[in-house]
Amino acid sequence: MRLVVTGSTGFLGGKLLRAAGKRGWDVVGISRREADLADGETVRRALVGADPEVVVHTAAWTDVDGCERDRDRAWRVNAEGTRYVAETCRELGAKVVYVSTDCVFDGEAGPYGEGDPPHPINYYGWMKWAGELAVLGASEENLVVRTMVLYGWGEGVRPNFVLWLMGELSQGRAVRIATDQWGNPTFADDLAEAILDLLEAGCRGMVHYAGGDFWTRYEMALEVAQGIGADEGLIRPVKTSQLGQVAKRPLRSGLKTWTAERVLGRRPVGFREGLERTMAQARGEG
Ligand SMILES: NC(=O)c1ccc[n+]([C@@H]2O[C@H](COP(=O)([O-])OP(=O)(O)OC[C@H]3O[C@@H](n4cnc5c(N)ncnc54)[C@H](OP(=O)(O)O)[C@@H]3O)[C@@H](O)[C@H]2O)c1
Repeated sequence: MRLVVTGSTGFLGGKLLRAAGKRGWDVVGISRREADLADGETVRRALVGADPEVVVHTAAWTDVDGCERDRDRAWRVNAEGTRYVAETCRELGAKVVYVSTDCVFDGEAGPYGEGDPPHPINYYGWMKWAGELAVLGASEENLVVRTMVLYGWGEGVRPNFVLWLMGELSQGRAVRIATDQWGNPTFADDLAEAILDLLEAGCRGMVHYAGGDFWTRYEMALEVAQGIGADEGLIRPVKTSQLGQVAKRPLRSGLKTWTAERVLGRRPVGFREGLERTMAQARGEG
């Protein structure tokens, strides 16, 4: 199977390229330099040139507050850009696996299953939902994998929640962490393997895949502090409303992963294990 991964310079894109390479798959990455999602012609040219059977589309503008501020760019990159990917793949007869987010939900009543109706409360969520519709509308073979709060080790990538926390706490800096944001944090290496397994299983439609534990950000932060032997007193509990973020966040979020578990025959990696593996990778052991 010839696999193409968009967002090759990103956190998940890098994990996917490594995981597929380890399996001996014929895999190639596409970066923003080759295909700018805001420019349909470059997307088309890069995909036609790569000649994929499957495209895992991870590329996106992932700055949630940035998307709220610059809605035009968010629309061009995350909604229109994904539509270009879906349409080009339809022409090429290639399957698309699109990585989406819990931000399509409002966070009133999580965790959410695949059948729950989306109701985004921020512009990033609206644009990712538009991307989902474009992908699912382009072919019945396509797959959307919704996930949330990715963490894990990665060099030269946008710092994720856990890596950022490790950096701040190990420098003795105090952090303000929300006690009212719930969800299941997802170990990125586990998600990458799951995406490849879902592909192998011939999965299509909508599937949720996220971590095995349903915690608040505050609980996650305490676990990180314990894991690295940092002072838990550096973690200051606050409400999300005190953080002054531009975009609203779904509070009681989370994703039910029963469908994926049934297909894959295993549970997603829990936070403690993911954290241990992250620390091992940071030490160069993973
Ligand atoms: N991270 C999370 O917690 C999370 C949670 C749920 C869902 N997701 C979804 O998972 C996917 C991967 O997330 P991630 O954490 O790996 O994101 P990331 O580290 O921010 O990587 C995003 C990738 O998209 C590329 N990109 C950005 N703008 C682009 C454009 N205009 N044209 C082409 N490529 C562009 C980036 O390229 P540059 O390196 O050049 O900027 C980078 O390679 C995204 O679709 C995201 O919506 C992420």
